[in-house]
Amino acid sequence: MKKITIVGPGRVGESTAQIIAKSELCRELVLLGRHEGKTKGIALDIQETAPVFGFDTRVVGDADPAAMTDSDLVIFTAGLPRKPGMSRNDLVDSNITVLSSVVDDIKRYAPDAMLLIVTNPVDILTYHAWRGTGFPRQRVFGLSGVLDAARMASFIALETGYSVKDITTLVIGGHGDAMVPLARYACINGIPIDQFLDAATIERLIEHTRKGGAEILALKETSSAYDSPAASIAIMVDAVVRNRRRILPCVAILDGEYGEKDIAMGVPVVLTSQGAEHVVELPLTENEIAALFSSAQQVRAHIK
Ligand code: LAC
Repeated sequence: MKKITIVGPGRVGESTAQIIAKSELCRELVLLGRHEGKTKGIALDIQETAPVFGFDTRVVGDADPAAMTDSDLVIFTAGLPRKPGMSRNDLVDSNITVLSSVVDDIKRYAPDAMLLIVTNPVDILTYHAWRGTGFPRQRVFGLSGVLDAARMASFIALETGYSVKDITTLVIGGHGDAMVPLARYACINGIPIDQFLDAATIERLIEHTRKGGAEILALKETSSAYDSPAASIAIMVDAVVRNRRRILPCVAILDGEYGEKDIAMGVPVVLTSQGAEHVVELPLTENEIAALFSSAQQVRAHIK
């Protein structure tokens, strides 16, 4: 990929930039921030790791939106993070305002870009980014399930003592307390987790996953998670840049899939060089459908 822009070089944006540069996922990486000096400083700091890690990605910081010109991918991490006690939805008004302020710049300077939305509440912001830009839905998607599934896999590994390398998990629905970790689809090297864990333990790990973001926020007090979100974003970017056709849970705009329309939320998506190529529809049990519907209702309430 030639050029990626990260809008909002806060903690998530900066960690993401470091991984993208180090992994050489693009030739040019632009950090776009409101404070010119600070943004240039962050970019230069990362650029100066290039000789140590041995990467050729050029890292540029700027406050001028024109710096995103002709980006292939724009990653949106700008906005306020949660404070302890806040839900992601408490950020909706302030962060929609921040998003709206760059939508016109994206349309003007990067009209062919894909958009990866990270800022919370991510389902709502992904929906508004899609509406605001008018881009095809394949080109607008968000982070959630890769991060939530990574948390679930971590907890399964810690509980069982087995290698995280063999653990696959799937979390769908909105990126909030009503997210839907699909324990039935969680496996350790193909073996369903109920072969290793009893129902009460699985339920506890599901609840832990739902509260995973809030747990980190409560412990750190002054910051949400940023290393695990950044790593999760980088996996999605890698899938797009290398056209891997990975099936990853992402926030996608739904047009009838899972019985939902005119909404964005987490579902398994085939990620390709064209973006969220299509949604993978899974057979779900009645309970899973009910949980997904209730999660969608929460997202819908805030979209309105
Ligand atoms: C979390 C934030 C990024 O889940 O939503 O940690």
